[in-house]
Amino acid sequence: SQVQDIRGKATAAAKDMAFAFDIDGVLVHGDRLIPEGQRALEILNGDNELGIKIPHIFLTNGSGKIETARCAQLSKILHNPVSTDQFIQSHTPMSALAEYYETVLVVGGESYQCREVAKQYGFKDIIVPNDIYAAQSTISPLREHFTAEQRATSTPRDFSKVKINAILVFSDSRDYATDLQIIMDLLQSEDGVLGTKAKSPTEQSIPIYFSQGDLLCPTEHPNPRMSQGTFRIALEAIYKALTGHELERVVYGKPELATYKYADEVMTSWMDTLHGEEKLPKHIYMVGDNPASDITGGNMYGWNTCLVRTGVYQGEGNDDENPANFGVFTNVLEAVQTALRKEL
Ligand code: G3P
Ligand code: MG
Repeated sequence: SQVQDIRGKATAAAKDMAFAFDIDGVLVHGDRLIPEGQRALEILNGDNELGIKIPHIFLTNGSGKIETARCAQLSKILHNPVSTDQFIQSHTPMSALAEYYETVLVVGGESYQCREVAKQYGFKDIIVPNDIYAAQSTISPLREHFTAEQRATSTPRDFSKVKINAILVFSDSRDYATDLQIIMDLLQSEDGVLGTKAKSPTEQSIPIYFSQGDLLCPTEHPNPRMSQGTFRIALEAIYKALTGHELERVVYGKPELATYKYADEVMTSWMDTLHGEEKLPKHIYMVGDNPASDITGGNMYGWNTCLVRTGVYQGEGNDDENPANFGVFTNVLEAVQTALRKEL
């Protein structure tokens, strides 16, 4: 019965903990599995001494695909189920903007996929830069390629009659020159109508939102590559140089507070799905590879943060600027096992 007692306590403790996983650099590199990630998820999905499921959500700054498609892809790579109910990518919380803006310019990623994302979020009239380029190619004189496929998935129309209400950068720009040019045109337009010039040039004509702010992203390349944050910095510098004013913008994703609040909601309802109780667990562990987003955000939000060395961060000890409060680990499996040992 002493054994039963210990088991009971461990089970209760297991029900009061949860994990939030970063994806790129923790569980995968691009489409390639990090093997320790698969094992870590198997343990949390019930392959542990208690035979209990330990709730975990995925909190990624990734983007560019609809949630159902990305979850299906991740389930395959990770050999573990990933439900849309436990999944937040950078633009997921931006669905709330659909109620405020009818006509939006969606920038970045494969445009037909990001158009689909915006449609699912409830935006009514979705324009992508390729639609504009298809209607008026002189708008981007530096552009060299416009493939047959891009043309086939673009919808040109008379943009002098269209009021664009907001710009939503969902994913990495595939063509900085065209995207920056069109965004600059819109920000200085009269009420978001292309081809017009604002009567009051000191005012930014329409709002702009970015789905995340990471400067670097781990990919299959040996060193991290530039990400959406560098695109935003380029735009901010251009906007300042050409208008003399600071760009007003909103950034989502980690480490922004709004994203962690959203994660709390997802975590709460996922706890309900797994344990039948709608409440936040006492002990939340975030496992991430990027000190500037995963770790700083988790630290601010009172989570236990674990920094792994399989992605952006490659240092020896802890990160100087944003140290992980639970520790630095070789990989995600080591982090999960250490957290379980501490709590159970
Ligand atoms: O920085 C871009 C994105 O791919 C990072 O994703 O999962 O590391 O937050 P993640
Ligand atoms: Mg990462």
